[in-house]
Amino acid sequence: MKLPLFAVPLLSALYYTPETTQSSPRPLVLWHGLGDSYSSPGMTQFASLIEDIHPGIFIHSIYIDEVQDNDRKAGFYGNVNAQIELVSDQLRGIPELAGGFDAIGFSQGGQFLRAYVEQYNDPPVNNLITFGAQHMGISDIPICSAWDLLCQVARRATKSAVYSTWAQENLVQAQYFRDPNNLPAYLSANHFLTVINNELPPDVQPRNQTYAHNLASLNSLVLVMFLQDKTVVPKESSWFASEAPPDDMLPGQDVLSDKNIIPMKLQPLYREDWIGLRALDEQGGVVFATCDGEHMQVDRACWEPLVKEFVGELID
Ligand SMILES: *[C@@H]1O[C@H](CO)[C@@H](O)[C@H](O)[C@H]1NC(C)=O
Repeated sequence: MKLPLFAVPLLSALYYTPETTQSSPRPLVLWHGLGDSYSSPGMTQFASLIEDIHPGIFIHSIYIDEVQDNDRKAGFYGNVNAQIELVSDQLRGIPELAGGFDAIGFSQGGQFLRAYVEQYNDPPVNNLITFGAQHMGISDIPICSAWDLLCQVARRATKSAVYSTWAQENLVQAQYFRDPNNLPAYLSANHFLTVINNELPPDVQPRNQTYAHNLASLNSLVLVMFLQDKTVVPKESSWFASEAPPDDMLPGQDVLSDKNIIPMKLQPLYREDWIGLRALDEQGGVVFATCDGEHMQVDRACWEPLVKEFVGELID
């Protein structure tokens, strides 16, 4: 299955009536990627493949807008913090999810679900799988396909003034754009990624301990990187790595790739455990995985073992 640029496709909310057996699979929540919508053919197909593996599973596909076109637009335009708040209300309103759920986020849906865990987690997430997420942001705005006008207009606007107040309130990608060559501008302008990464200096904004507590309460956080990802820069952002400014080596860092990638374990965010990632890792809860392919090329060989292991556990 080759899913569209920066996105994976799935379904509208599947309202399923649980059978009256003693145990049933833990419910699942999906958040699609940029360029996609909650009820696209790809998302719908993905959900139905999961239902084949875990019969009787309840699956909800997150939407910002029930109208499919508007939902796709909301992937490009909007205030991410407001979108996540809306999603937290949406999830709290679904009776089937009340006991908790597993979650899969595609591309930017991955870091948005992580934000949900840190900031809300009510109902709580058990396992979170992120495919090609941008946990440490992006240092370039992905190119768009030739026919995707919506994407092109958003990209142009984002690139022209990424740290302007308007962009930071209205352009989704700007809200996780993290320029390694201009971290001060990022830290002062950004109100999404800096927040969920508890990245602001404590004298500016004390690190929120709830975020760390909630993230460390996950059973597993599965971080999937696409090995040939040329859309997300750097692709290692999926593994909580980021691009360092040129010539800027962190203590403990020896081998540098040509891109000067700072791996997760050398990030201050990890070392000082700003968000509970290290605590989770030390409990064995952080799992690294790869998909062989370009961004959002979610082949069955890649997703199926993860869906078997981390989704659909039978619960009472
Ligand atoms: C920390 O985050 C929680 C959850 O989002 C929020 O309720 C709380 O007000 C925050 N605390 C501070 C000090 O900002």
